[in-house]
Amino acid sequence: MSAPMEQPLPATDSWPTPAKLPPPAVEPASPKTAAALIVPVLAGCLAAGALGAYGKLHEPTGIAVNVAGFSSPQTVKVWLATLAFLLALVQLFTALVMYGKLPVFRDASWLGGVHRWSGRAAFIVSIPVALHCLYALGFADYDTRVLVHSLLGCFFYGAFATKMLVLAKKGVPNWALPVFGGLVFTGLSGLFVTSALWFFTTFGVKF
Ligand code: HEM
Repeated sequence: MSAPMEQPLPATDSWPTPAKLPPPAVEPASPKTAAALIVPVLAGCLAAGALGAYGKLHEPTGIAVNVAGFSSPQTVKVWLATLAFLLALVQLFTALVMYGKLPVFRDASWLGGVHRWSGRAAFIVSIPVALHCLYALGFADYDTRVLVHSLLGCFFYGAFATKMLVLAKKGVPNWALPVFGGLVFTGLSGLFVTSALWFFTTFGVKF
């Protein structure tokens, strides 16, 4: 069978010029609704609830891990909690600059990176402390400070989970990230005040 004859191309003037091309289809912006927050918030509540349930139900082991250079396992945790809080302060500062609330370093190229990495480092540093709290001490309520601390510990990880999901999600309202970022910072600050700051003001600043 012979090859079909190639159809000559139509005359160029019949080609639609760019001016005649319909404008490229712009995807209509999906409405930024609070409904988009339902799943991230539910996931955060589940994470906080699961930590609280584990902390309450499992038998605290009381184990203590000492680290060379520190006078007790407690001081290791106190200084790690202090480091996590200082990193969170860096993250708050860079967020305030990024949101135009502080008139410094506005165009600094390192701002976004410092914001992200200080947040990640604060979270990573908090993990071994929280693991010891949950595994060795559990969710305790023998006084108000300890109850508030235990509640804040669960809240902090719940808010963190929600913030990470909001970060990855399209269609969330513009206010969502600063609000959940603020809740994460508030949680960690409260943890610092109810543990490390309490320790320093009760037993003095020591390693
Ligand atoms: C995840 C949930 C958490 C629970 C249920 C929890 C619970 C507790 C409890 C019951 C104590 C003993 C309080 C005392 O007798 O003084 C404690 C101590 C402490 N917690 Fe937590 N905590 C949690 C998360 C965290 C986090 C995220 C941090 C820091 C970033 C932290 C830092 C500390 C420190 C520094 C102490 C004092 C050292 C000690 O007594 O071992 N906790 N925690």
